[in-house]
Amino acid sequence: MSILITNIKNLIQVRDQNVLKVFGKDMQQLPSIKNAFLLIKNDKIVDYGSMDNFKDYAADKIIDATGKIVLPTWCDSHTHIVYAGNREQEFVDRINGLSYTEIASRGGGILNSAKTLQNTTEEDLYKQSIERIKNVMRLGTGALEIKSGYGLSVESELKILRVIKRIKSEFPLEVKATFLGAHAFPEAYLNNKKAYIDLIINEMLPKVANENLADFIDVFCEEGYFSIENTETILSAGKEYGLTPKIHVNQFNAFGGVALGVKHNALSVDHLEELNQEDIDVLKDSKTIPVALPSCSFFLSIPYTPARKIIDAGLPLALATDYNPGSTPSGNMNFVVSTACIKMKMTPEEAINAATINGAYAMGVSEEYGSITKGKKANIIITKQIPSYNYLPYSFGENNIDTVIINGEIIE
Ligand code: NIG
Ligand code: FE
Repeated sequence: MSILITNIKNLIQVRDQNVLKVFGKDMQQLPSIKNAFLLIKNDKIVDYGSMDNFKDYAADKIIDATGKIVLPTWCDSHTHIVYAGNREQEFVDRINGLSYTEIASRGGGILNSAKTLQNTTEEDLYKQSIERIKNVMRLGTGALEIKSGYGLSVESELKILRVIKRIKSEFPLEVKATFLGAHAFPEAYLNNKKAYIDLIINEMLPKVANENLADFIDVFCEEGYFSIENTETILSAGKEYGLTPKIHVNQFNAFGGVALGVKHNALSVDHLEELNQEDIDVLKDSKTIPVALPSCSFFLSIPYTPARKIIDAGLPLALATDYNPGSTPSGNMNFVVSTACIKMKMTPEEAINAATINGAYAMGVSEEYGSITKGKKANIIITKQIPSYNYLPYSFGENNIDTVIINGEIIE
């Protein structure tokens, strides 16, 4: 199947093969071709350029994109999209004055979602999750990292990871799986945390590795959750099974988790709503990319990750949704890009880079995704007729997407 897109008003995020992430001032650059064409063959981008140099290509399908912008699909490098039920009651409780931390300390929060998931069959969990998967694909997400972490028992963590594996094989979008057994301590282990860490290391990890269910290992490194010491023990164990670290860190407190992530060559350090100068300094000259989750800040009314400080220090930044039932019940990357511009003072160019090429880097797939590059996967958003790419973040909450192509398939 070949698809030819002609008369594109602006083809954006056109990159050389070896650009795998952008940082600092370069995040301000969004290379583009005005009045362009794009040719897709099977699952790949095979050619593009100015309509002035257009050869008369034959194609199975021709899309006239007059007045429309074409960009790579979003790469959402941090989600917990495989979950059961919802937490709308906690949402109301927070409106009525309880804090996220207070709710969690009463057995709500992650433990509440874990209880629901433990009582949900694998088939039902799959069915609930794929509705969200279909929805985010229609919203332009073409690559997605998905974490476990709402199981918190051997059986239920494996249940989530098997659902992720099934999604990976049945949907055209790129999926990376992360084992997050260390998301919270189950109630039964609150007085014996070491026993839960032993369970993760001695029972869960070998099974996860044996069934080849995860690419990454994650830990919620936070006061009241996993300490620096716990986090180090778990990341080290994961690395022995070939899993690359990615950590939840500095959501509520900054106490050295970023440096720990860098020490362990984490692919990404995510959240960073609380970030100090030492954290920024330690990220310089590292391979670890910081990831901001502005929808989480929006939903919980907590500080936004200081994007300006990060980018102005010459670092890269990626944007992701954090789609989960507790802190971010939304997988809409378009909203993330808008919120990053409105609340974090990122420019549209920076936000689009952060949600495409840098998002791809943060999930280890930027050789194949995240830009319009010959040979990369045909993952494309065609917008409706809009004045410029600035209009995408500007018109927050609007759906500006006309067509989404993932792995060379038009998504209905
Ligand atoms: O990334 N911070 C830790 N984990 C999730 C949310 C957990 C929940 O409330 O269910 C997050 O925000
Ligand atoms: Fe998260």
